[in-house]
Order: sequence, then C-alpha cells, then structure tokens
Amino acid sequence: MRVPGASSVAALAPIEDFLAEMHRRLAETSGGKVADYIPELGKADPNLFGIALATVDGELYTTGDADHTFTIQSVSKPFMYGYALQKLGREAVLRHVGVEPTGEAFNSIVLDEVANRPFNPMVNAGAIAVAELMQGDTLDARIETMVELFSRLAGRGLDIDEAVFGSEQATGHRNRAIAYMMLNTGMITHDPVEVLDLYFRQCSILVNCRDLAMMAATLANDGTNPRTGETALDPQTVRDVLSVMNSCGMYNYAGQWSYEVGMPAKSGVSGCIMAVIPGQIGIGVYSPPLDAQGNSVRGIKVCQEISNEFELHAFNNRTNVKSVIRRSYHGDLVHSNRLRTAEERTMLTTEGAKIAVIEAQGALFFGSTEQVLRRIADLNKQAHYVIVDFKRVHLADTSARKLIMRLARSMRGGKSELLFANIANEGPLGPLSRELAEHEAERLVRVFRDLDAALEWCENQLLARSLKGVAEPKFGLSELDVFRGLNAEECKLVETIVRPLIFDKGEVIIREGDQAKLFFVLARGSVSVQIRVPTQTGERKRRVASMGPGLTFGEMALLDGGNRSADVIADERVVCYGLAVEQLQELAAEHPNIMITILGNLTRDFSERLRHANEEIRTLE
Ligand code: DON
Repeated sequence: MRVPGASSVAALAPIEDFLAEMHRRLAETSGGKVADYIPELGKADPNLFGIALATVDGELYTTGDADHTFTIQSVSKPFMYGYALQKLGREAVLRHVGVEPTGEAFNSIVLDEVANRPFNPMVNAGAIAVAELMQGDTLDARIETMVELFSRLAGRGLDIDEAVFGSEQATGHRNRAIAYMMLNTGMITHDPVEVLDLYFRQCSILVNCRDLAMMAATLANDGTNPRTGETALDPQTVRDVLSVMNSCGMYNYAGQWSYEVGMPAKSGVSGCIMAVIPGQIGIGVYSPPLDAQGNSVRGIKVCQEISNEFELHAFNNRTNVKSVIRRSYHGDLVHSNRLRTAEERTMLTTEGAKIAVIEAQGALFFGSTEQVLRRIADLNKQAHYVIVDFKRVHLADTSARKLIMRLARSMRGGKSELLFANIANEGPLGPLSRELAEHEAERLVRVFRDLDAALEWCENQLLARSLKGVAEPKFGLSELDVFRGLNAEECKLVETIVRPLIFDKGEVIIREGDQAKLFFVLARGSVSVQIRVPTQTGERKRRVASMGPGLTFGEMALLDGGNRSADVIADERVVCYGLAVEQLQELAAEHPNIMITILGNLTRDFSERLRHANEEIRTLE
C-alpha cells in the first residue's frame, strides 16, 4: 500500500507490487524463535510481519503488519550514539566507547580493557555507556530528551511501552552486571540504576515499521526527517553513525551482512531491522522470530532480497565520473544571447575560439571533479577564457570545493582566466559560492549569474581588444546595418521620420502584448529582451537576448504588425531612433527602395542569426 504523497494511478505500483509479492513469499518462511529473555517480548505473535520503505523525500511504501507497534530495542542504539556525538563531539564520545566490532553477541560481557571502554555503541555494554551521556539534570529530563529525539526522528510523538520496560527492568540482570562491571572500571561513573533505567526505556520506545523506515530515511537524508524537514542529526554525525552501524550493527553477523546485503543496518531483539541506503531510502522490517545471532529471520531475508533485486549493495559502483562533463565547446560556435552587429559577428567567428565552455552536471566529488579539472587544464592551453557552467550540478562536496579552489589559485595570473556561472549562494553549491566570495579579494575567479552573462562578458573583452571598443555609438543612419545600402537622399528621407528617443536605466521601452507601432534602432547604450515565464507562484522574467548600438529591435512591427512578443528594457541610459511603421510605409509608398533595402537587411540579419542558431544547435547536440 502506498501512503499519500503523490497522485498515483492504481496500476503504476512497481515498488508496492514487489514488496507485496516478497511479503507473501517470505511470510511462509519458518524458523527462528521469538525472544523471551525479556518475558514481555515473548508474548509477541510470531506470524506478525511488516515491511516499510521510505524515500529521502518522504514517500512511504508499506506491506503487511506495517502499523503494528513493537518496542524498538537495539535499533535505538545508533540514534542514542548519534545524539552523544552531536552533543559531545567525536573525541569526547570516543573516550566512553570505541568503534570496533566485537564479533561477539549483542549482550557479550567483553570490554576493551586497553582503552578502558566498551568496544562499540551497538552492543549492550556500549549502548549503556552511551545512555550515560544523555544530557539532563534529572532522570526525567533525560528521559524526556530521549523520547523527543526519537519522536523527531520518526516525525511523530512516540511513547514508551511501560510493560516491556518493567519486564526488562525486572529481568535485566545481565545488563546490570555489565553496568556494574563498567562502573567498577570507571567506564561509567553515574549510578547504574539510573543509567539502566534510561537504557531500558530507550529500548522500550514503541514504534512500527513506518517509523523505523522514516527514521532510516532520516539517516539516508543526511539527518533531516524527509517529511517534517526537521534536522535531528548533522551530516557528519550521520556518517559516523552509519559507519559503526555498518561494521557493528548486526553484531557477530555483521561481516556476513556486509558481504550479502551491504547496507548499514541495525537489528532489535523484538524482531525488527532498520537498514539505510544513503541518499536513497530507509527500510523498516518487523517479524519477531530471531535466528541464533538475535536477528529477525524474515527481516534478514527481506533486506537481502531488496539489496539483490535492486542492486543496493553499498559497494555497487553507481558513479560514472565521466558523465560529469555534459559538453564543452568554444565561443566561435556558441555565442551569448547578445545580438551583435554583422562586423562583431564576423569577428567572433574567429576570436570566439578563445572562449572555452565546460557544462558540468550531476555530483562533484573527488573523481568527477578531477575529470573537470583535467578538461580545464586541457582547454587552458589554447583558451583565454575558460567558463565552467554549474547550472546542472546538484552537489559539490568538500573534496570538490578544495580541488576547485586549488585550481583557481593555480590559474591566477596565468594565460587564461577562469569564469564560473550558475553558482547560487542558496542550494547545493552554496558552500562553494561562499568560499569563492570569502576569497573575492584574491580575484581567483569571475562569477556570473548564468552562462549567457559569462559568455557575453568574454565576447565583450575580445571585441574590446580586437575592435578597440565594443560598438562605438553610431549616429549616422547610413552606418547602421538596417539602413546599409540606402543612398544619401534616401537616408535624408528616413531621417525625416526618425524620432531620437532617450530611455533611462531600467525603463521599459517595449512591453510584451502592446500593439507594435514603432521599431527601434539602438544608437547608444544596451538593452535587454525579456520574456515572462509562468512559474508555480506567478511568473518570472527570463532574459533571452541583449544588444548594443547599431542593432534593431521591435522590427516585428514592421514584418507582421503583431503585438509585442517580449519586453525590452534599457540596461543603462540608452539613445535610440524610433521609426513609426506607418510613416515608414507612407515614405516607402513614394520610395519603395527604402522599404526593400530595410527589409532586405533585416531578412539577411535574421537568416544569419538562423544559420548561426543551427550551428549552435549542431555544436550543442
Ligand atoms: O538490552 C537488551 O538486551 C535489549 N533491550 C536490546 C537487545 C537487542 O535488541 C539486541 N538486538 N538484536
């Protein structure tokens, strides 16, 4: 059964179908014995069997007795350990408990006498030592904090099964022995009665398979509950918890488990198992009959099947570092959206090759970042500008940030300049963006809002260098591309209908939807063409082009007379010539060559842009 989270068409239930079919099959599994050394646990119905699977964005798939509640038992231990790490830090916690598997049973009375601490927090001795680290001035305060922790992880308020607590407290002599042995050697220093009270209560927290799956998904989601968005543990702590779960979580079955299933997991003597696939899902299984190592017989089979069926073993290689480079090309074939005069376009078809672009995608970690660095180094040989576009990058881990910063430093003052685009402060590249900002003074990298802006900046640098300044303002009509070919007399005639117009920065020259009466030739300054793109919450503006002096805009008015299809905004104070279409048509009625020439120039310009667009599409394919 799939819990609401997304609209579902009944037929499309591949995961539910798999879980239900597996549940049907494994429900027939016999063998194992319900734990009864805690008498209350012995009352459990051995036929109970529930499975839940939760995704890192909160989707929950369940089958069988997924709503039946049971006590969490040892599955509580990773979370208590995480809490201690979060509160006290690694060094302090390592003084109380190690991270070495014992290869022994969960309740074995073996202690690391060399380091004077229990071997790991997954066996009872270690868990008891960790329970002592729960913060709070009174036992009640510590219990309250503990219950809150588990409730935050499950995403709902949880309670303690007082009957099981009482039963364990009454019969927990082995744990008492362990606690007093540790008191004897100073591994714990507080009153064992109180420490064990908290430990027995943490083991008696009531959960169901959904809760376990959501708690596992919280670990898979770097410590944030996928449903509530509440952060219970930070990513570093989660990594430490998963490491110890992987090596110690299944006790003296941990090696076989890691070999066969390959997921960090933790079992509980009530017959539950929780398993985690980092970044993907959390699994919760409940079936009381246990094998000789104290792990749920059906629970192990469920995790084995899910791991094998969907190849979820942690050491299956899922990363393909080579795919990190989506494509790379040069600025002679791919230009910015900045519309250029014919002269500028001609120049960029050669000089543009000095601009190299790498579009990165996916996750940047050591292996993939190394690929990008190698490509940059390669392009660095020829290019004057190397742009890296991070638009499709959804992760840059610490190693990636360190390598990128090292590269930026090594390129500083070198032959070519490094430019980054689409590195937003918010989101997955935030840390990298902030690190670059912190070193802004070193001018390591130029950062642009998007690839188009970075490309335009590089083009302007190249144009400035080779044309001694981009688009010097041209006031003579005859020098403007759109009027090229008109003779002096015709130019004079057109000048009679030209209206010089001045717009301040930010002013809307043309508004989308307005009737088109004028077309414009830009004489000075720069304008941007923007379209409105609907969004879930309204609309946003998207810049589709920009242009400088010598170019026309609003010429649709002349070609199809349709309403304006975009906004044109003055990027700075601009001077342009406005020509009323009506007046031009009247003039052309007398002097048809004027219109023929203008339309000819416009058509040639459009076809050149079209040709170039095809080239670009070919390059980008
Ligand atoms: O301390 C005990 O023995 C129980 N409260 C917890 C043991 C447990 O869950 C072992 N797991 N397989």
